[in-house]
Amino acid sequence: MNVPRYGHIVVLSGAGLSAESGLSTFRDNGGLWDNHRVEDVATPEAYARNPDLVQRFYNERRAKLSSVQPNAAHTALGRLQREFEGQVTLVTQNVDDLLERGGARDVIHMHGELLKVRCTACNTVHGWREDCTEATRCPACGVAPGLRPDIVWFGEMPYHLDRIYAALGDCDLFLSVGTSGNVYPAAGFVAEVRRAGYAHTIEINLEPSAGVSYFAEHRHGKAGEIVPELVEQLLKGEAS
Ligand code: OAD
Repeated sequence: MNVPRYGHIVVLSGAGLSAESGLSTFRDNGGLWDNHRVEDVATPEAYARNPDLVQRFYNERRAKLSSVQPNAAHTALGRLQREFEGQVTLVTQNVDDLLERGGARDVIHMHGELLKVRCTACNTVHGWREDCTEATRCPACGVAPGLRPDIVWFGEMPYHLDRIYAALGDCDLFLSVGTSGNVYPAAGFVAEVRRAGYAHTIEINLEPSAGVSYFAEHRHGKAGEIVPELVEQLLKGEAS
């Protein structure tokens, strides 16, 4: 039997992980930020100015989510987390639930989750699958309007950073999958790992990301093809 070469793998994922499932990325041609201005739908100011538009944007994305399925990269990462003998920390910028549906047990959603809303009056977070409007009452405190998508918008602090930085400082393999490396702090995680000194770093992306030079190894192509191959190697103890 092969001995796993790594003890703690951290995987950072972005929209490219879910692209082959049919969810739009943000910055590719025809991506979400081609059709919507960030300032109109993904900032606290946008929500204050035009809450109906913001709710509609996330309602559409929530509805779309129920029509797509995890792809081979999601299921491979789920399998890695379940079967790898060491620790696997899955950190995602994605707000979909495709890693969970692909079999992952514990996913750190640093930019929040589409299937949750948060009450700005009582701060309760609710699981949510329906549309949400300014008329929707909070099931906990009854206030409306007040329920907002539990999404981290530009200008807001990402979730779970303590847990993420602890994992970055502890890992011996860091994988980045399907992210353009444009949005901090996630774009800076690879530099953080390199500062700690000893972890191997691999970028998996359709094309070189903005941070490609920080990675020791690159595998460029579709996540749905490259990730399952790499997971197979990691589970056999064969990866570089
Ligand atoms: P981007 O849209 O910026 O980048 C997606 C990356 O995935 C691009 O570099 C693509 O080349 C790559 N890609 C596309 N299809 C792929 C495939 N099949 N296999 C592998 N790679 C593929 O998305 P993110 O980097 O995730 O934040 O964006 C980061 C954050 O910016 C998002 O979480 C969101 C956005 O604004 C918030 O909304 C707060």
